[in-house]
Parts: sequence; C-alpha cells; structure tokens
Amino acid sequence: MKSYIAEYVERRGTDSRKWSKIGMQEMADYIDDESLPLWVADMDFKAPKIVIDKLKERVVHGVFGYNIPEENYYESIRYWNEKRKGFEVESKWVVATTGVVPALNFAIKAYSEKGDGIIIQSPVYPPFRYSIMNNERKVIDNKLLLNNGKYEIDFDDLEKKAQDPKTKMLIMCTPHNPVGRVWSEEELRKVIDICLRNNLILVADEIHSDLILFGNKFYSIGNMGDEILEKTVICTSVSKTFNLAGLRVANILIPNEKLRDKFLKEIYEAGEKPIPNLFGAVGVEAAYSEEGEEWLESLISYLEENYNYLKDYIETNIPKIKVSPLEGTYLAWLDFREYNLSAKELKNKLEKEAKLVVDPGEIFGEEGQGFIRLNFACSLKTLKITLERLKKIFK
Ligand SMILES: Cc1ncc(COP(=O)(O)O)c(C=O)c1O
Repeated sequence: MKSYIAEYVERRGTDSRKWSKIGMQEMADYIDDESLPLWVADMDFKAPKIVIDKLKERVVHGVFGYNIPEENYYESIRYWNEKRKGFEVESKWVVATTGVVPALNFAIKAYSEKGDGIIIQSPVYPPFRYSIMNNERKVIDNKLLLNNGKYEIDFDDLEKKAQDPKTKMLIMCTPHNPVGRVWSEEELRKVIDICLRNNLILVADEIHSDLILFGNKFYSIGNMGDEILEKTVICTSVSKTFNLAGLRVANILIPNEKLRDKFLKEIYEAGEKPIPNLFGAVGVEAAYSEEGEEWLESLISYLEENYNYLKDYIETNIPKIKVSPLEGTYLAWLDFREYNLSAKELKNKLEKEAKLVVDPGEIFGEEGQGFIRLNFACSLKTLKITLERLKKIFK
C-alpha cells in the first residue's frame, strides 16, 4: 500500500491549483518553469483505489442527474466517526456544504450580528480571519503563545476576551494549521469550559483530524460531553484526509436542532442546498470505509517518514532553520528568524533563488513573520529536491 502512495504522479497539466502556474501565482510573486510547489494543503498522492473505482463506476453508469444522498452516505459518516473518533453521529446532524470555508461563513452569519466579535487563535489558517472580516464582524485574536518552540493556548487571554458580551463565537483549528498541534484533552476541556461559561458557540474546524502523527491522540469536540454538543458546530471533511479537495464536499455536524436550523437558513438564503454534489457523495462513501482506513494508515506512516527526513536533513545541514515539533497535519512550520530577513527578502530568496513556492508565515497572522509553512505531503523525490535547494541558498 505504501508503494501506491509513494508513486510519483505528474500533476502539471492537470488543472492543479498547487502545480499550475496560474495557481502558484496566487501565492508567489515570482515563478518560472523550475518552481516547485510546497504550498496549499493538497497532497501529491493518488486517492485510495476504492475511491477511484467507485468514481469510475459512477462515470460508467452515465447518468448525472440531480442527486440526493441516501442512507449509505450517512452510514459511512457514522462509521468513520465512531471508528476513528469514538463518537456516535446522528444522520440528522449532518449538513453537507461545498467546503469548510463556506461552512465557516454560514456559521458566522447564523450565530452573530455585524460588529460582533469572533475569536481566532493566530497564527492560523487565513480564511478564518477573512471570513470574519468579509462578514463585517470583528476579529478578536487570542494569539497562541510560543513557549520553548511549542505553541500553547493563552487561556487567561481567552477567558478575558470571551467575557466581552459582544464576543459570540470561537473558531478553533483542531488540529491546528499551521503550527501542527493536536490539542490535548486537558487543553480542549479548558477551552470548552470557557466557551460554556461565557455562552460562546464553538466552531471546531476538525478538517485535519484524521492526520494525527507519531502516536498522538486526537480528541474530537464531538466526544467531550453533551453540554458542548449543544453549543458546537464541527467541521469535518474527506478533502485533506484522502486528497479529495477537488470534489468540493464537507460534512458539518450540528447536533443542536436550533443551531442547525439557523445554519440551514443561511445555506438556503445563499441559494444553495445542503446536498453534496454527486461525485463528492461517492467520494465520501468510498473513502469512509475499511479500505479507506487501510490507505490512511499507510499515508500516516509515509508522512511520518517524510517529516523525519525533513527534520533530520534540516537539523544536520541547515541548523539555522528551526523545525517546529509536529503532532498532526502534513504542514511543517519552519522558523527562519535567525536569518534576520524581512518578509519580502525571505520570500524573494525562496521564490527567486531556491525556486520554491511555500506559504509565507505572515499570511497566518503577524506573529508568523519569519516562518514559512511547507507542505511535505509530496513524493520523497520532491522533498529531496526541495531540501537540496533550501540548503544551497540557506546553509
Ligand atoms: C484548517 C482548514 N480549514 C479549512 C480548509 C479548507 O477547506 P475547504 O477546502 O473544504 O473549504 C483548510 C485547507 O487547507 C484548512 O487547513
């Protein structure tokens, strides 16, 4: 199975946002034919064979009329959450959207008014901030603390910010992109306690929750007691886990009926329907299966090997770059602050000299300046070229 994952797949010329010039230009100011993409959270691996086979079957069927998920769809979601996260999902909780980012926007509109405050924990996935700003709500930043290289939640600051009656919601990235933390049970319990005492809705973006490395344990908000189930929106998806982002489907779990109705109202008002597209639905059902799980286990060990390779290589050859410890996701958070370069200088060096397209740290929040996020869900061949280029320019 691992050799299936390790197989190099040429992605140029396949309308890939990560690999095409037009896509890379979203992130990079400079690219040429040699530019290598290590940016957007998308893997260079083929989806599990079961997903490809089921999609093929549906294509061969040849009829692509309006679709609606039948019981199998919900059954696969229940199976996956029970098996991997240890909690029971009811079919009626599941609301399908075209992605997690659209879901964040629906949640913001559904549970807050213009001018209300919404907490995020930066450095964090940029659309959290933009979704709040685009909806004319106020970003309240509960910045993560960096203690001896480890990112931690500033609970005192969170408590203070949660107490403001204008603050309505916390959007939490769990596991955290870009810093790679898988929050411990204790950390999550403290966050939940603060949300419950201050009447905040907890939107838990658990999109990376299947990508838990090195034996760490993931605790879903869905598994943390009945009280928080009434106050939470849990964002799940097959897109990161199985590399299916192009199928445009996410499953949002909303146990509380009133919250769910408000969320659905936003979907309908946007002219949308809470129904996955045909191929997205086939992808979910196929991926959330025993075969999908076997593939995922191989993926995790491949990712662990890639991260270890990257860490050892950098520590040995370019020790001025500091590699953040990683508990989950396939995104390495690298600290270049010892070079004392401005954001522009660092970006230029990476893009023009090393010919690498990465996510500059400052897009995740100002405290990300001097860092980069590097996506190592690529073939070892691509990773080796990347590291050699980094060494040539930064050693
Ligand atoms: C934390 C997080 N949430 C959401 C997304 C995007 O989700 P979608 O493509 O389903 O909108 C990403 C993609 O990188 C992500 O890292």
